[in-house]
Amino acid sequence: MNTPLFRHIEEQLLCNGLAICQPFDLQLPSTPLSELSHPLRTRVLNLGEQKKLQLAGTGREQSHQLNRQIRRDRIHWLTAQDPAEKAWLDFMAQLQQHLNRTLLLGLFSYECHFAHYQPGDFYQKHKDAFSGQSNRILSTVLYLNPDWQPDDGGELLIYSDEESDSVRSRLLPQLGTLVTFLSEEFPHEVLAANRHRYSIAGWFRLNSSVSNRVDPPR
Ligand code: OGA
Ligand code: MN
Repeated sequence: MNTPLFRHIEEQLLCNGLAICQPFDLQLPSTPLSELSHPLRTRVLNLGEQKKLQLAGTGREQSHQLNRQIRRDRIHWLTAQDPAEKAWLDFMAQLQQHLNRTLLLGLFSYECHFAHYQPGDFYQKHKDAFSGQSNRILSTVLYLNPDWQPDDGGELLIYSDEESDSVRSRLLPQLGTLVTFLSEEFPHEVLAANRHRYSIAGWFRLNSSVSNRVDPPR
């Protein structure tokens, strides 16, 4: 059942280094993404009510104040303890296996966190990995917001490259939309929204002992 979706991601990654899967894509009539997304939305709303979402950082040495100028989201790392979180981790493990078999990517592990952006929150233009400095290979974002309207803001902007400001893709954070891209290739940015905005950001990594570097901080 997941094969058409996994094939789509595989083909788009191969051609563009970037794969976008949207819930109402006629070429992908029955993906499990919206089914998986509903319980994950319930889960992140509960975590928010229980005050279990923490301010996100951007690196070990940066001060809290500096972080606030770069990103404002609150996060919670997923584990297999919660059934909805486990369903997502299992699904991504299947995708990992598919991409390793077909594209020989050598993906070793997957880690991901929920993110909550309050109205006005943003994440400035950044890359998730820098060549030679990280074992993050592939970035993923799943969106958890039903009925998101263009006026709500909060788009993900994916830039073509570091130098230019040309926007390659502009995505609304619509429930069930999944974007996957090569972590070292694409600078990207989260624009401020005027609604609460929920997502799961994740990264497939190489084995750190293979890349012979200390893992960068989460
Ligand atoms: C990130 C990120 C994008 C998004 O957390 O690194 O770029 O749309 N998130 O939530
Ligand atoms: Mn990012």
